Amino acid sequence: MNTEPSTLPGQPYIAYHQGELCVEDLRLTDLARTHGTPLFVYSKNAMLSALKAYQRGFAGRKVQICYAMKANSSLGVLQVFAAAGCGFDIVSGGELERVLRAGAQASKVIFSGVGKTRAEMQRALEVGIGCFNVESEAELEVLSSVAMAMGKTAAISIRVNPNVDPQTHPYISTGLKGNKFGVAHDRALATYQRAAALPGLNVSGIDCHIGSQITQMDPYLDAMDKILDLVESIETTGIQISHIDFGGGLGIDYNGDTPPAADALWAKLLAKLDARGFGNRQFMIEPGRSLVGNAGVCVSEVLYLKPGEQKNFCIIDAAMNDLPRPAMYQAFHAIVPLKSASSTEEINYDVVGPICESGDWIGRDRMLAVRAGEHVAVLSAGAYCMSMASNYNTRGRAAEILVENSTAHVIRERETINDQMRGEHLVA
Ligand code: LLP
Repeated sequence: MNTEPSTLPGQPYIAYHQGELCVEDLRLTDLARTHGTPLFVYSKNAMLSALKAYQRGFAGRKVQICYAMKANSSLGVLQVFAAAGCGFDIVSGGELERVLRAGAQASKVIFSGVGKTRAEMQRALEVGIGCFNVESEAELEVLSSVAMAMGKTAAISIRVNPNVDPQTHPYISTGLKGNKFGVAHDRALATYQRAAALPGLNVSGIDCHIGSQITQMDPYLDAMDKILDLVESIETTGIQISHIDFGGGLGIDYNGDTPPAADALWAKLLAKLDARGFGNRQFMIEPGRSLVGNAGVCVSEVLYLKPGEQKNFCIIDAAMNDLPRPAMYQAFHAIVPLKSASSTEEINYDVVGPICESGDWIGRDRMLAVRAGEHVAVLSAGAYCMSMASNYNTRGRAAEILVENSTAHVIRERETINDQMRGEHLVA
């Protein structure tokens, strides 16, 4: 018998009610029956409450929260944040079209990324985005020429690499010297001077982002000190920095992780900003995972239980194409049954998908009491799951449901085989 947790750690809108796992007021078994599996289910109220933690932290300050939409770029999710007044941090022309479709104000969009193309720059200037976060000197030159050719001025901030260790997985740490991101701290001043001299550009801000799934405050405090030192030296050359963008990166609780709450983190950071005389500036932040990660689960059916000599396998119908994080980063996602009580015993399983790769695992060494035909929920699946999903093994991408109290909105239909083959041709 499983013990019955009432709510799951870090996930107040996802809880067992009368033995049934629910997102807000809806039972996941009912949603699985109606919509099939694998199925992503998100809580709208969980997203809004994660956003409120940031808003509380910034009360009385000038701040633009730009949701880093790469975490989950489904239109129905973007719409929630657009309606709540958020801006967006984008990294491609495709993401730009998505946020516009979802009702975002272009002026609240900032454009990050090391490899922006001329076409992407043109489109962003045409619709009037708020700012380009420029990541190299070469990009400055190209943006200047694109803006000049259009008779426009591009607002820019330069992404500075503060060389701070965010103490997270190497694949998702971005602020160290060896990373491809940003301009080296030592080159920053010279890059600002170049930007100020180029036509078609308007230096607006400074920007940094040190990594993702950060669970400690110190890396943020260290990065902030380095950025503020730089702002001081840039401004002594007569270049005004109107906004400071601290990026995203705040972690969530996947497996007993204890990241600071967004408001607690920002109380600390704002105290430092005040102490250094920067408290009245315009701030921007780019949170992704911390707004959506624990607002979503992936519901999956147990297809087969396969006892083995060394391992027992629980084969589910979600796979690494739906949930790529374990295969890519050895990431942990909790896996729980949808019914808290079971008539069968708990067994240690490796939970795996149907894809023909040994890397297709979702969880290792998990104690689960499940039978074939029952369902499990893979938790913390709101961020970097659907947005990283693929069609590997010609598997259609899952459907997505946004729950708002007792209403289920289908925000993405299950991908069909015709959707998958669209645009392909046999040779005549
Ligand atoms: N701003 C910039 C410039 C970024 O590169 C990122 C994430 C963010 C904001 C948002 O970071 P967040 O608040 O979500 O940590 N696929 C990986 C995470 C990659 C993060 C990439 N950049 C994962 O599944 O863990």
